[in-house]
Amino acid sequence: MTQGFATRAIHHAYNPQENEGALTPPLHLTSTFAFESAEAGGEMFAGERPGHFYSRISNPTCDLLEKRIATLEGAEAGLALSSGMGAITATLWTLLSPGDEVIVDRTLYGCTFTFLQHGLAKWGVKVTHVDLTNPDNLRDAITGTTRVIYFETPANPNMRLVDIAAISEIAHDMGATVVVDNTYATPYLTRPIALGADIVVHSATKYLGGHGDVVAGLVVGSTEKITEIRLIGMKDLTGAVMAPFNAMLILRGLKTLALRVDRHCASAQIVAEWLEKQQGVGKVFYPGLDSFEQHDVAKSQMDQPGAMIAFELDGGFEAGRAMMNRLSMIQRAVSLGDAETLIQHPASMTHSVYTPEERAAHDISDGLIRLSVGLEEVDDIIADLQQALPAPARMAAE
Ligand SMILES: Cc1ncc(COP(=O)(O)O)c(C=O)c1O
Repeated sequence: MTQGFATRAIHHAYNPQENEGALTPPLHLTSTFAFESAEAGGEMFAGERPGHFYSRISNPTCDLLEKRIATLEGAEAGLALSSGMGAITATLWTLLSPGDEVIVDRTLYGCTFTFLQHGLAKWGVKVTHVDLTNPDNLRDAITGTTRVIYFETPANPNMRLVDIAAISEIAHDMGATVVVDNTYATPYLTRPIALGADIVVHSATKYLGGHGDVVAGLVVGSTEKITEIRLIGMKDLTGAVMAPFNAMLILRGLKTLALRVDRHCASAQIVAEWLEKQQGVGKVFYPGLDSFEQHDVAKSQMDQPGAMIAFELDGGFEAGRAMMNRLSMIQRAVSLGDAETLIQHPASMTHSVYTPEERAAHDISDGLIRLSVGLEEVDDIIADLQQALPAPARMAAE
């Protein structure tokens, strides 16, 4: 019988009895590995003998993390990288060549957008933005040169969802590879591989680490694809290797992922429902709300609606900025998935790399506020939001 998610997150691929009885896996702080003979070293380099030989290619602490994320995502293999952007760039540099096309959703995390516009496009890859919330749009746009379909679901920052199964079916009919950024949902809520995706990338900096103390990235997929990304995208093209110490922090984070995400989601649902009832709050975007346009997609591919909320205030950007400045417990910070509730303004922070015209074209409104609901008591989160929201009298004055 396959063990449950939380059990695998704690035990998978590690036996203390093979490690001097150490309950916690050892941290292998080593850059290189000694060969038992010159012949053995040569065989490892030729790929004829398994084993670690240099930590830019593999390391036992990273290896355990790679096995853990692979089992949690239901994939054959995993790869640990230095950051979410390291994971995304190493993957896309490996899969794409000049002359290829990559179709991406309209809404993407700011640096992913920049990498596509100023990285891949500069080197002869055609980058086409398509509204993937309607799978028919992909059917119309995909061509014989489309190699990769890339999207986030839920998307950062406006929470749009993409139907992973429907997109994967269309992509595979045309021989394209589907890459999903699963950072917002985590494998605890959505498992894109089971829905048909080929590769999943993560900013492990967020929920997987969970404590705001590490920047890290992960990729999972078939053994063949992950080997390619390891040996081309990570080893040679980016060198974006995860430090073993950071792998240890992510392994520690994974042990409590299920517990934390349950609590994050329960609080986010309460906060979103509360926000929706407040005077002065315009639209609230949260997959757990009945008013959420893609509530059905949320139900079909997310076990719970997650803990990221986007919302707009009636007074637009200025009202949002004033509200953020009145907060006392909630921290004004980018990133997400930490124990602390974090709030930020995408148009001037995480998505400021888009031009105003690009933001408008990509459905990122300038008044949008992004909230990452943390693990504090939900009553305290609401109390801080309440004292900061524009009171009717304040709204008139502002
Ligand atoms: C959805 C998403 N993908 C990727 C990244 C990039 O991850 P990192 O900051 O770990 O490089 C982020 C960072 O905010 C993100 O929100």
